[in-house]
Amino acid sequence: MTKTDIGERTIALDGPAGSGKSTVAKLVAEESGLPYLDTGAMYRAITFGVLKRGIDPTDWPAIDHALPTIDLELSATSVVVDGADATEAIRGAEVTANVSAVAANPRVRAELVELQRVWIDKSGGGVLEGRDIGTVVVPTAALKIFVTASVRERARRRALEIDANIDKVEADLLRRDKLDSEREESPLRPASDAVTLDTTEHTIAEVVAIVINLARDRGLLQ
Ligand code: DC
Repeated sequence: MTKTDIGERTIALDGPAGSGKSTVAKLVAEESGLPYLDTGAMYRAITFGVLKRGIDPTDWPAIDHALPTIDLELSATSVVVDGADATEAIRGAEVTANVSAVAANPRVRAELVELQRVWIDKSGGGVLEGRDIGTVVVPTAALKIFVTASVRERARRRALEIDANIDKVEADLLRRDKLDSEREESPLRPASDAVTLDTTEHTIAEVVAIVINLARDRGLLQ
């Protein structure tokens, strides 16, 4: 199968943390019947493995050295790292605080992008969510969506979810946005041919409906 083929049945959903991208991606996958891949979970899983080994997340040579020893198993419902269930731990505060540093590492990115392409190839397309799906992982994706929302709204949603102070959450989101969009390797940015959808102004249901309609228009769905 060529890269063009994998793009033909692929919906790429990129955007910053808290934009509503995950919720939209899962619902689009459910409605379209296409398989779903959360690539952020993969970066989180590697971060979990790095922290468990006591490695400083900014120490790239140490991470490069350890990378081949970190064993990842991802299913639709669970994340297993080195044989132990890490589904909940990868969403915890420690991994969340360190994942942007690990995700900036070029070797980590190269390995995960390769795994993501193998996954698409095997599943014959899918709905992928991340930061660089439309720009790097599958530049030929038939539909690319960039999901955004104002930083205040993203902080409000996340603060509700984890029962935390909105100003603190906003400061952390701004810090992560900066790291993710200013890193040298595959920074967070919309692909030139992506459709940008702002969930501050639309409900999640409206955004899902827009994506499904676009997928139909592009022949991805009947
Ligand atoms: O979507 P998320 O919050 O679970 O992503 C966690 C981190 O991983 C975030 O800091 C950005 C990074 N990431 C990335 O660099 N590329 C992706 N395709 C997905 C996530």
